[in-house]
Amino acid sequence: MNKSIAVIRGDGIGPEIVGEAIRVLDAVAAKFGHTFTYHEAPMGGNAIDAFGVPLPDSSLETCLSCDSVLLGAVGGPKWDAQPPANRPERGLLRLRSAMGLYTNIRPARMFADLSAACPLRSDIAARGIDFVVVRELIGGVYFGSHSTETVDGEQKATDIMSYSEHEIRRVAHVAFQMARKRRRRVTSVDKANVLDCSRLWRRVVTEVAAEYPDVELLHMYVDNAAMQIVRDPSQFDVIVTENLFGDILSDEASQITGSIGMIPSSSMGEGTRGLYEPIHGSAPDIAGQDKANPIGTILAAAMMLRYSFDMAAEADAVEAAVDAALKDGCRCGDIAQGGAVLGCRGMGEAICQRI
Ligand code: IPM
Ligand code: MG
Repeated sequence: MNKSIAVIRGDGIGPEIVGEAIRVLDAVAAKFGHTFTYHEAPMGGNAIDAFGVPLPDSSLETCLSCDSVLLGAVGGPKWDAQPPANRPERGLLRLRSAMGLYTNIRPARMFADLSAACPLRSDIAARGIDFVVVRELIGGVYFGSHSTETVDGEQKATDIMSYSEHEIRRVAHVAFQMARKRRRRVTSVDKANVLDCSRLWRRVVTEVAAEYPDVELLHMYVDNAAMQIVRDPSQFDVIVTENLFGDILSDEASQITGSIGMIPSSSMGEGTRGLYEPIHGSAPDIAGQDKANPIGTILAAAMMLRYSFDMAAEADAVEAAVDAALKDGCRCGDIAQGGAVLGCRGMGEAICQRI
């Protein structure tokens, strides 16, 4: 098969981790007889430096014309002084919205060989961690109007959170369908004791649940969910939640598995074109030092093979290669427990060798 992939290397460690994911994709292409062509799409702080905006129209067009998009990470302190509408993150938000990617899937699974890196008590970790956060991605407070004004001699900031029924319904369906392929339990997370958006969320998710009588639905307030994720993560199968809560809970969920550096994500809309990225950020403190863990990005590439290209065997091969490298003791700094530490390049190489 021939597939075109838009590549957003981004800022900080982005270029390093994306470089390793591309090496792995090339190893897959060679082994399975595919051709992947890569099309650069600058986005983030580097695009601000080169073009004055975080997402040039030409990059957006590249993303919309390719079969899928691979992204490293964007942002960094260098661009902190940018006006809010021109921050690197805005490029990412515009891209998600323009591509119609309303569902963000973030698996939190503990690798057996990394249980020692799990920060939870061993009896809690022993019950296992294997759940998925399904985050609504193009609604809520991220996409409401934002403003800062002066009122009575002081600054006042406002961010509007709003949700329409259809925005909730479509992502709820994704969560229930995913639960059917897993352990048939959806936990919907909201703040329905305080927010109107959450009351609507709860009503619509409950309505959608009626179409999936074989899937159990539980509702949980977001503060309780944050606590339950560290108290007993084994109770979760699929968590579905709105944009901001999903942003926060997915970072928490990733770290309990050992390291945020290991977790991929996919963002999907109606078609098969998706955006695949690690869930971590651009880590400017270690950029350019060959210290980043590329596994989150490599596993994101595996998700791309599985969900956008329908290449299950190829995705399995990448995931098995990551498992094998971990089993053989390959570790980057974030997941090392005293032994030898591989750089970003070394880890990419170790995974390619096992494809
Ligand atoms: C994420 C990131 C982004 C978000 C930022 C970079 C805008 O934290 O993908 O989780 O908040 O969605
Ligand atoms: Mg985040």
